[in-house]
Formats: sequence, structure tokens, C-alpha cells
Amino acid sequence: MKTLVFATNNPHKLKEIKAKVGDSFEIKSLKDIDVSEDIPEPYETLEKNAFNKARCIHEKYGYDCFADDTGLEIDELNGRPGVYSARYAGPQCHFQDNINRVLREMEGETNRSARFRCVIALILNGQEHQFEGAVEGKILTEEHGSEGFGYDPVFQPGGYDQSFAEMPLEIKNKISHRGKAVAKLTAFLKVKAKQK
Ligand code: IMP
Repeated sequence: MKTLVFATNNPHKLKEIKAKVGDSFEIKSLKDIDVSEDIPEPYETLEKNAFNKARCIHEKYGYDCFADDTGLEIDELNGRPGVYSARYAGPQCHFQDNINRVLREMEGETNRSARFRCVIALILNGQEHQFEGAVEGKILTEEHGSEGFGYDPVFQPGGYDQSFAEMPLEIKNKISHRGKAVAKLTAFLKVKAKQK
């Protein structure tokens, strides 16, 4: 079975991907290939950061690989926090600080539309491919729910009356930005595995 490195050490993401493509490719994390370096995300777009991570692993270690980058884009804030979602309140900040900053900046705003966008960059057999998933929704005026992570308590997807943090994980994974991008990646990989 062909090996594909997922440029992450996030165990939740790894588990989700393995469950979906585990029968067509052997998925390895950075830890599995003994890479402990933190690959930087210095660029101003999700696409550039995702490809930078994938190219780093491919060029340095020779593996076929993929990497992802996600951002919460709030229309009233001109797309912020966007590519800075993980560190919106500062370099060492906690998720709660990021939520607090978003709630503060959105205080009193009536246009609360926002989306999560996830970009996956894949390098396979020397060729680059990109997959994207997005979920439209709105920023709540206060936190709801305690499941999930990141901005989940303040993001409510369109067509639902619960925040991501109030939803069962199976539902979130089906409709989420990452769920949609991963579904596109896995469909592509299944076709490629049959062509081998
Ligand atoms: P990453 O690129 O997947 O590490 O995501 C960057 C940041 O976006 C994370 O640190 C979170 O703050 C936020 N984020 C990504 N995915 C989600 C999600 O599904 N729910 C809430 N926040 C998320």
C-alpha cells in the first residue's frame, strides 16, 4: 500500500482521515516519520500556507503528502481572522482569547455572516492538487455549547439552530468545511488507488 504523509500532529484530524482513506493509502503523521519540526504558516492565504507545508515535507523528506489550513472569515471584519484564526488574540493565545476578541469586535454588528474555509494541498506522484470545503453561517452574540474546539461555540451554520459546539460531532463532520474538503480528497485518492 502506498504511503501518504499528512503534515499534521493533530490526532483528531489524523483519526478522521485514516477512517476515510485508510483502505486505499497508508496515512502517516509527521510523528510517524520522525519529523518534529513545526512547519511555519507565514503566508497571507490558506492556499499558500497549505502548499508551503506540503512542499516542505515533499522536498525535505521525499514523501507524497498533504497539508491543510483553515480560517474563519467574518464579512463584517473584512475576512478576519481568516488565515490568522489560530493566533488572532496573539502568538501564545488560548482559544478563549480568540473567541473573546471576535465577540468584542462584533459587538452591536447586525451583519454577522461568516464562513469556515478549509484548503487541502496534496502532492502525489510529483503533481499538485487542491481541495476546498466551506460552510456558511453566522457569528452568535454569545457562546453556546461546549463540544468541539476553536470558534465552535460562536459559529452557527446556516440552516441549523445550534452552534457547532452544540451539535453531535457526526453532524458537524458531515457539514463542516474540513468534512467537505476531506470528502473531496478521499474521493480523489480512491480513484488514484484504483489506477495504481
Ligand atoms: P487549522 O488550520 O485547522 O489548524 O485551523 C486554524 C484555526 O482555525 C484553529 O486554530 C481554530 O481556531 C480554527 N478552526 C479550524 N477548524 C475549526 C473548527 O472546525 N471549529 C472551530 N474552529 C476551527
